Amino acid sequence: MMRVAVINGPNLNLLGKRQPEIYGTMTLAELEDAVGHWAEAMGIEIAFYQSNDESELVGHVQTSGGLDGVLLNAGGFTHTSVAIADAVASVEAPVVEVHLSDVDSRESFRRVSLIAPNAVYRISGRGPTGYRDALRYLVNRSRMPSTTIRYGPHPRNLADLRGPRDSGLVIVLVHGGYWYSGWDRDQLDSIAIDLAERGFATMNIGYRLSPPWPGSGHDVASALAHARTTAERIAVVGHSAGGYLSLWAHRRHPVDLCVGLAAVTDLSLADDVPAAEQIVAAGGPEKLEIPSDVVLFHGLDDTEVSSSHSTRGQDTSTVHMLEGVGHFDLVNPNRPHWEQVVSTLSVGLDA
Ligand code: DQA
Repeated sequence: MMRVAVINGPNLNLLGKRQPEIYGTMTLAELEDAVGHWAEAMGIEIAFYQSNDESELVGHVQTSGGLDGVLLNAGGFTHTSVAIADAVASVEAPVVEVHLSDVDSRESFRRVSLIAPNAVYRISGRGPTGYRDALRYLVNRSRMPSTTIRYGPHPRNLADLRGPRDSGLVIVLVHGGYWYSGWDRDQLDSIAIDLAERGFATMNIGYRLSPPWPGSGHDVASALAHARTTAERIAVVGHSAGGYLSLWAHRRHPVDLCVGLAAVTDLSLADDVPAAEQIVAAGGPEKLEIPSDVVLFHGLDDTEVSSSHSTRGQDTSTVHMLEGVGHFDLVNPNRPHWEQVVSTLSVGLDA
């Protein structure tokens, strides 16, 4: 059983009462309870700790060093404490930096993290579910490590590579999240690992999330161009807004197969999404063409991205509408529909 410490720093004992508009209404006890349930479902043994004291946090990071992982929300010390950063650098255990709020879109001093350079990953702005995703990240990391490369000049142009490097084919994975800055490539780790275990090479990419358009589109297109330098046959799989980016990039750097999982294809249907408005204002296509080398999968129970994004492609491409499937089920390889996605990829890549 994996053993993980969840360490919360100063002022997190006040959760629920403290600036609920930023940190939410869940108390620390409720948060720990939720994390305990997620951990149990993932087969993780958890030890919780909270302190407002810098030296106690240093000591606790040190004593957690022999565990299989640490989730560390160092609160305000994230931005100031060389001592906690040094403790993170000193321990064997992989440390995931977690923040409830989106620190990058708040005051500029919160954009500085002394911990980040030595943390294995950072999750910020996803509220309590960030702790769940951090646990899942650690489980996936221990199941199959990846090699992280940079495919472009921007700091977010990172890609995790898994699976055989010499097979001549690669599947590029593009996560979604409607360009909100909390989302990142860990969203697709579970399908990346599943595909790699089946013998496919995967390249799970991050990309720029902030405007202006077409930064994120260009990032995905350059990831496809990068993939082209390593493989002859390429598929791109995009989930949600990652589907929009995959379809857009596929027109510029055509690949052998483009698969959309609950893909956003029509920004006019996403009228409450600020990035959608910005993209259209900057000349990005409102409605994407869906050509015949695109295959779309969409869950009929999707409450995040309406199935109309996929049904509009029915005349020109292959569209699979899936009963009993929700938005995030599509990126869960344990759901029955996943075999259908895998066989689409195998056929399309002639694997
Ligand atoms: C925090 C963000 C920090 O900037 C802040 O000082 C905190 C909480 C978060 O979880 O969002 O105390 O780490």
